[in-house]
Amino acid sequence: AAVAVLVSNAFQPVDAVGCPMLARRDVRSSALPPNHPTSDYTFHTRDEPLADALTKKPLDWAAVEADIEKALTDSKSFWPADFGNYGPFLIRLAWHCAGSYRTSDGRGGCDGGRIRFNPELEWEDNANLDKARQLLEPIKKKYGSSLSWSDLITLSGDVAITSMGGPSIGFCGGRKDDVDGTDSLVLGPSAEQIAIAPCPVNGNCSSPLGPTTIGLIYVNPEGPMGVPDPSGSVPDIRSSFGRMGMNDRETVALIGGGHSFGKTHGACPAGAGQCGSGPDKGKGPNTFTSGFEGPWTSRPTEWTNEYFVNLLAYNWTKFTGPGGKNQWKPADTDVLPPSKSAIRMLTADVALLYDPSYRALVKEYARDLPSLERDFGAAWYKLVSRDMGPVSRCRGPRVPPPQPFQNPLPAPPTKLADFRAVRKDVEQYLTTKSSLSEQIPGDGPNGRNYGALFVELAWRCASTFRATDFFGGCNGARIRLNPEKNWPENTGMDKVLHVLSKVKSKYPAGLSWADLIVLAGETALEKAGSNRLSFVGGRVDAKDGSNPEPRTYYLNASVAARDSAKVMGLTATQYVALSARLRSPSQQARLGLGDKTYTSDASRLSSEYFQILLKNKWIPTGVESKSGAKQYKASGKGGDLFVTDADLALIWDPEFRKIAQSFAKDQRKFKAAFADAWSTLMKADLF
Ligand code: HEM
Repeated sequence: AAVAVLVSNAFQPVDAVGCPMLARRDVRSSALPPNHPTSDYTFHTRDEPLADALTKKPLDWAAVEADIEKALTDSKSFWPADFGNYGPFLIRLAWHCAGSYRTSDGRGGCDGGRIRFNPELEWEDNANLDKARQLLEPIKKKYGSSLSWSDLITLSGDVAITSMGGPSIGFCGGRKDDVDGTDSLVLGPSAEQIAIAPCPVNGNCSSPLGPTTIGLIYVNPEGPMGVPDPSGSVPDIRSSFGRMGMNDRETVALIGGGHSFGKTHGACPAGAGQCGSGPDKGKGPNTFTSGFEGPWTSRPTEWTNEYFVNLLAYNWTKFTGPGGKNQWKPADTDVLPPSKSAIRMLTADVALLYDPSYRALVKEYARDLPSLERDFGAAWYKLVSRDMGPVSRCRGPRVPPPQPFQNPLPAPPTKLADFRAVRKDVEQYLTTKSSLSEQIPGDGPNGRNYGALFVELAWRCASTFRATDFFGGCNGARIRLNPEKNWPENTGMDKVLHVLSKVKSKYPAGLSWADLIVLAGETALEKAGSNRLSFVGGRVDAKDGSNPEPRTYYLNASVAARDSAKVMGLTATQYVALSARLRSPSQQARLGLGDKTYTSDASRLSSEYFQILLKNKWIPTGVESKSGAKQYKASGKGGDLFVTDADLALIWDPEFRKIAQSFAKDQRKFKAAFADAWSTLMKADLF
């Protein structure tokens, strides 16, 4: 009876409160039902109140685009447009808004529009972009809450590109603005960043940070640590673009396609606001932004492949530009016409000649404009949409077909299996001395602990979800596929899948692996005494295995626990509750931790786990699990008990400890929190 409610014959899953899933799509709240308690839901600051979302006027996207296009050539005296066109400036704004994205934890990106707030606002690389936003302000005012800043910024970049003749494969709208810059604190500089991703030498930062230099989008334009060494810039470019998920082709297309437009600004050595005199002081031709000066092409407001042609055509020599920085110019400027002799490159541009793979692409794009258009169009779309997750989250009339980076899933079946029947089949494994004992030896008397294996499988499957970029989760059931099935922490999950394959084969249509995995976990939990869990069906199975990589870079278990909760979009309460899920002794053994139970009974969901954590003293044993979790042993009377540092993080962290203490005291409270947390996580990736 505790199983999900499914409307028969039609694909319209409903949740526990009877709210059709599809209705939720427009109110991004990580798939929480509208009347879900959100009081301690701290992560999604970007969500607007439901009432706002529902009363919003539908947006006339074409009208917004027309307004942007008009603004591009309407030069304002507070910040006059170079060449009478703000296009390049707005492309830089969109690129710097999106370019903070990193694959390590899905953080950054323009969704949220945090470039308007510190810390991003004050990054050296974002100098003068406040003026670019000021140019867009009248448009933002006109459309009000129907148009987010983050959509407006991104769309402006897109319109700028096409208005100057460049390619666009479409636009994914639907970004929501954050109320402040909190979610970018981990990008640095901040205490949060130092705790999660320290960078001892700024300029040499590595993953999980995206750029080589905190405060820049990717690399130092002047060369590594400011040294004008193009070959030295190559590995920096490859590594930092790689950390945002771009390959060589995408990288070269983006840098050269982007720098087809506009110019650098560094009119004099005195710095921002100090160049020139009179009414034009510090702006127009006297602008100082990066400190470099000059355009990359002779036609900086037209889409061309001249950037690539120029790179190959000249011998580039180093010189000190008017802003006092190392730049590059053609060696033979005297014999060139003025339009060509004014052309400049950055060390990071010249670097594209110093690597065989990059150089081959420069040559390709110099001779083949259509190839550049194809690659730049696709790479730009990926750059600005990567943090939006699956294509089903995109809004607007120009959403292109699903792209590989959106990890598209097959269409859902029109008719789903009878989940009540599936649930009965799963239950059989939990109640009988089933053949499980042959398949997965050593799991408790009479197969009593097999439920814990189903719970572990569902947890492993769903806990890859990232609320930062809507990537991962159990929808797709990628835990069956490479590379996920080979992750150390998934050791033994193939055996559990094998057991469930008997159930799976009974339902040749309408039952995906993903639904079965989640349902088996929930069936086992309810059997183990959990409150009712609100199963929602309708997941599908992916054909390719891409999912977020496990985050193995944390400095200690406490940082890992806190940050994982945030990345998954869980509150502290939800995270702590989920840590008391059933653990199978045989699975512990497979992970290399010995076949001890965490509680007196691995077949019952209970808050005893917290009592045990809190009442014992824990000593390290020196044993590590396959995924690097460190084992601890209870001292004294509890000597038979083992836990890991991931468990102990719940009592080391003061906020988590308080929650653990309240659960230890109150079984009902724990069970309510657990059911809420579990249901939230299992549904988090249904868009
Ligand atoms: C401008 C560096 C990649 C688009 C600039 C400026 C620098 C720079 C120093 C001058 C800012 C100023 O003084 O006004 C770099 C580096 C890159 C990179 C080091 C990576 C290695 C990109 C990408 C795009 C892009 C991927 C877009 C796809 C632009 C545009 C401008 C610009 C359009 C001109 C802005 C204007 O005219 O106001 N870049 N950039 N850049 N960048 Fe990049």
